[in-house]
Amino acid sequence: MNTPMATWSPAIETGLPGIDAQHKQLFDLAASFRGEGDQIRVMKALAALADYASTHLRDEEAMLEAIAYEGLAAHRQEHERFRQMLRELLGEARKLSLDQIATRIEELINGWFYQHILTVDAAYVAAVKSSQSKGQA
Ligand SMILES: [Fe+2]
Ligand SMILES: [Fe+2]
Repeated sequence: MNTPMATWSPAIETGLPGIDAQHKQLFDLAASFRGEGDQIRVMKALAALADYASTHLRDEEAMLEAIAYEGLAAHRQEHERFRQMLRELLGEARKLSLDQIATRIEELINGWFYQHILTVDAAYVAAVKSSQSKGQA
């Protein structure tokens, strides 16, 4: 994966508080992988991150469904790729070193997910805000 790596910053806030809190939480969880740790703690952290990610993706899709967002099908496909990558990592994690797991998490969150927020998530913000201002969301 040759996506550039970046950490969370206010620059990637959408202005939708619930979404921003979930995005930030995923970066916080990802940041806990580098450094000291044992296999059991890391496997638990990985499961927690995958769980939290799936909650976020589901909540975001429900929000977009509620406003009949026209890009929803394409957005779901992007989320499905992310779910798939997380499933692969969960499946392989026992065979990986803790450093390798930390690197894979960085590629997924600080790489792929960061870019997703900047591009695919950023694309729905105007539609969500406009439907909120009409009192539909
Ligand atoms: Fe998304
Ligand atoms: Fe998102």
